[in-house]
Amino acid sequence: MSHSIWPSSSIKDALGIDIPIVQAPMAGAGSVALAQAIYAAGGLGSLPCATLNPTEIEAHLKTLKATSNAPFNVNFFTHHEKDDSPTAQSHWQNALSDEYKQWNLDPAESAPSAVRSPFNDTTCQLIEQYPPSVVSFHFGLPKAELVNRVKAVGCQVWSSATTVAEAKWLEEHGVDAIIAQGFEAGGHRGLFLNPIDGTEVIDDDIQLIAHQVGTFSLVPQIVDTVSVPVIAAGGIGDGRSVAAAIALGASAVQIGTAFLLSQEATITAMHRDALLNGSAENTVLTNVFSGKPARSAVNHVIKTQGPMSCDVPAFPTAATALAPLKAAAEKTAKADYSSLWSGQSAALAARLMGKHHSASTPPSASDLLHWIASDTQQVIAGLK
Ligand SMILES: Cc1cc2nc3c(=O)[nH]c(=O)nc-3n(C[C@H](O)[C@H](O)[C@H](O)COP(=O)(O)O)c2cc1C
Repeated sequence: MSHSIWPSSSIKDALGIDIPIVQAPMAGAGSVALAQAIYAAGGLGSLPCATLNPTEIEAHLKTLKATSNAPFNVNFFTHHEKDDSPTAQSHWQNALSDEYKQWNLDPAESAPSAVRSPFNDTTCQLIEQYPPSVVSFHFGLPKAELVNRVKAVGCQVWSSATTVAEAKWLEEHGVDAIIAQGFEAGGHRGLFLNPIDGTEVIDDDIQLIAHQVGTFSLVPQIVDTVSVPVIAAGGIGDGRSVAAAIALGASAVQIGTAFLLSQEATITAMHRDALLNGSAENTVLTNVFSGKPARSAVNHVIKTQGPMSCDVPAFPTAATALAPLKAAAEKTAKADYSSLWSGQSAALAARLMGKHHSASTPPSASDLLHWIASDTQQVIAGLK
């Protein structure tokens, strides 16, 4: 994407990337191969670490460092860890009791479920050993001591803001760039400050989600408030939406859902199908999969228990009780209990992909990146 169409080159110049498109870190769906494909194509690839253990993180960092000198982003969650509550679990299991009966399952039966751990001393040591260009956080920031250690080894620190108040807080706490994550975005909201009273969100309150702001309103208001670069995220999937983000003052965009359509994304065929055949109105913010609100395509468990439920245990332990149901349903090719993370603009990316790609296999992430970049150039040229 030529320099001239992007009014602010702060992110491109700071990182030495050609195209100011960040592949969103996507826990469970991103991969080393996805990050490599994006950085080979000139964007910023990201490694999501929220669901990885330290051994896996180290192996992935080593691979990324060994295969290229290109910059990349490593992403962590920074939620407050809570002890698993047997009472909360059994409450959630009771709510799901008809579902267990239907599948002939014992609620006490355990199945593997996503473990989501916050950034801590161990993962910080890995960053110190294998420093990437950027470390980004979701749900605020870790404690100052950890942020300082990340900065001391030369990494930029980014984090997501879903409100102007969160953006201000992040700037005051020393971030180098802010990812303005709008309501349209797929996956978990980065929400970490109560929009009503500004206090830190410790216990998720399902009412707070009603305050979330759309990308079109959020990006320019954050741009007007902070002096660090702003990266627009949420609902961006083709040249029109990238051009809109540029017009709103973003220095770069962070795109998730569109890259789920790539061959490097590690999603199930059922998830891919939901993205290709879904619609914006068929995604909702739901807490049923993890305990925190996240945007997913609607499926059976969202319809019967959600989209927002008071019965789910604290993040991230809601996944435990769903795990046996998910495993049983997936064996019969049903995604009734699987998170189908999707932003509201999956159709934009699918349409753009359809213009360039007729093969039955998914396109590479580098092709997707180039199609979005060239579509942006065409849209902007058409405006002149
Ligand atoms: C499948 C999926 C997983 C995600 N996981 C993470 C994550 O691990 N860390 C993070 O900071 N953001 C995560 N997000 C949110 C993205 O960073 C980004 O805000 C969002 O994808 C942008 O909206 P879009 O999906 O409409 O492009 C995830 C999004 C998706 C779709």
